[in-house]
Amino acid sequence: MKDIMEVILHRRAIRRFQARQLEEAALEQILQAGLYAPSAGGRQGVIFAICQDKEVNLRLGRIKRANSKPRMASGDSYVSREQPSIADDPKLTDAFYGAPTVITLFAPKNFLFAGEDCAVAAENMMLAADALGIGSCYIGQGWTAFADPYGQEILQKWGIRPDYYAVMQLLLGYPREGDAHPTPKPRKEGRILRF
Ligand SMILES: Cc1cc2nc3c(=O)[nH]c(=O)nc-3n(C[C@H](O)[C@H](O)[C@H](O)COP(=O)(O)O)c2cc1C
Repeated sequence: MKDIMEVILHRRAIRRFQARQLEEAALEQILQAGLYAPSAGGRQGVIFAICQDKEVNLRLGRIKRANSKPRMASGDSYVSREQPSIADDPKLTDAFYGAPTVITLFAPKNFLFAGEDCAVAAENMMLAADALGIGSCYIGQGWTAFADPYGQEILQKWGIRPDYYAVMQLLLGYPREGDAHPTPKPRKEGRILRF
């Protein structure tokens, strides 16, 4: 394991993956990182649904792409040149970018801290992934991947309780060989106020 600050500074959103699946021991460590994340009131309400079925991930990723209307990149306004997102490249039809492992984080509906609970768990998992040499990407608005009859069928098949909703997805996979690790955008000035 690398030093924590080294990992925090090194982690970047990865959207270009190798097809090879994660090693099981690595996935288990990443899940452990998610399970040990903070949760509001210590309720541990987040459910982690791991899908490594290529066909299911592709279909859900396509549904999500069809349901997304991002503001497309133009000029200096872009998400990533090195690891293009669906907002950067209109030719991308899979909002999960072919990631071999897609984890959907579900949390109770009508729970004030559902989003926060999933986000802190996801960050723990993304850092653990980076430390293990695995690329990750946070995908917001997780429910849009299930917003059609096929998505609803999958929720049923997975046994997701109707009082839970998909907050987000976490994509995991080994970064594509030959790609340089992305450089972070410069940090914006004036975001830290000290009194
Ligand atoms: C709340 C949230 C939602 C995001 N949603 C998406 C998404 O839907 N698709 C995507 O490709 N990246 C998504 N990202 C990843 C961001 O685009 C990425 O973190 C950002 O461009 C900064 O790059 P970095 O993670 O490499 O620092 C999301 C990140 C966050 C925190």
